[in-house]
Amino acid sequence: MSSPIRIPIYQPELGEKEKAYVNQCLDSTWISSKGEFIERFQAGFARYIGAQQALAVSNGTVALHLALAALGLGPGDEVIVPSLTYVAPVNAIRYVGATPVFAEADATTWQVSPTDVAARITPRTKAIIAVHLYGQACDMSALGDLARSRGLLLVEDCAEALGTRIGSQHVGTFGDIATFSFFGNKTITTGEGGMVVAREQTLHRLALKLRGQGLADDREYWHDVVGFNFRMTNICAAIGLAQLERADEFLARKRVLAEAYARNLAGLPLTMHAEVAGTTHSFWMCSLLTSDPAQRDPLRRTMREAGIETRPLFHPVHTMPMYAQGQRGLDASVALAARGINLPSWPGLGEEGARIVSDVIRGHFRR
Ligand SMILES: Cc1ncc(COP(=O)(O)O)c(C=O)c1O
Repeated sequence: MSSPIRIPIYQPELGEKEKAYVNQCLDSTWISSKGEFIERFQAGFARYIGAQQALAVSNGTVALHLALAALGLGPGDEVIVPSLTYVAPVNAIRYVGATPVFAEADATTWQVSPTDVAARITPRTKAIIAVHLYGQACDMSALGDLARSRGLLLVEDCAEALGTRIGSQHVGTFGDIATFSFFGNKTITTGEGGMVVAREQTLHRLALKLRGQGLADDREYWHDVVGFNFRMTNICAAIGLAQLERADEFLARKRVLAEAYARNLAGLPLTMHAEVAGTTHSFWMCSLLTSDPAQRDPLRRTMREAGIETRPLFHPVHTMPMYAQGQRGLDASVALAARGINLPSWPGLGEEGARIVSDVIRGHFRR
């Protein structure tokens, strides 16, 4: 029997502000998807990332679905997406009836390779989804140039990248539309929740309409397009606003943690997922690669026996049954996935927590 988990991979930090704001919802009876916290969270979030507007939704997966629906993607359209990603952006392509075309990861940054994306463009390609994986930024300069020169839409999946920047610019503000997730293990959480950030007002208004059942602007209970109910509740937004007020603090503490891991693990046969020059890694997950795939699972086992929870890197989506179309040239994604581990990455873990985790890893390599 394995020992109980002493150090989880993630745990949210909820304080007095979250409770006070939620109590305001309960006291006022505004518990559904109308109420002051929705507006305050959306406005505060847009300001935080330097966007014009933001739209709160019920999770990061529907954020992607809504974004692709608002862009008008559908049957016959190809959308290029990395294979090394969480499955949600790929599923969203399927939800709108479009076809995912998988692109390769860069072996150093683990982000989608712009060169490989370029090689996969066909006359049917309509969009690229850049997924900022584990808090690292994609090469938005190259992807932006590609999208502009080939007339493609550019979507950013920032579920794992609140606080990630290129220069001083926050990810989520480079493409046509971006999405975020506030699941319980994300840098800020609302329990379940997400955000859609459109660059243009018209796209934002269309997403707003689709979020709320396709309601017409000028007639009550009249729906002139097929929409969704993808709204966030005021209670979730209340938690989100309190969390947003602490985002900088969470990010600073996650950076301390990442730096502690990098220091403590130096000299071992491991490669940390390190910050790229000119960017800010938000370290949603502090991650590493073993030098050989055969070393990955024994290391995870040792950590689990010591009560430390870890995660493997995502399985490349092109290997999953519903997407296994025999697509080639994704070897780097497969190789990374086989060697990668996400370490406990919550801000409250601190340098002492990093020391405990690192000591177990060091001990494993001494055996
Ligand atoms: C890259 C990425 N996209 C989308 C999502 C989906 O977000 P949610 O779990 O809020 O639906 C996640 C979730 O973890 C994710 O990691």
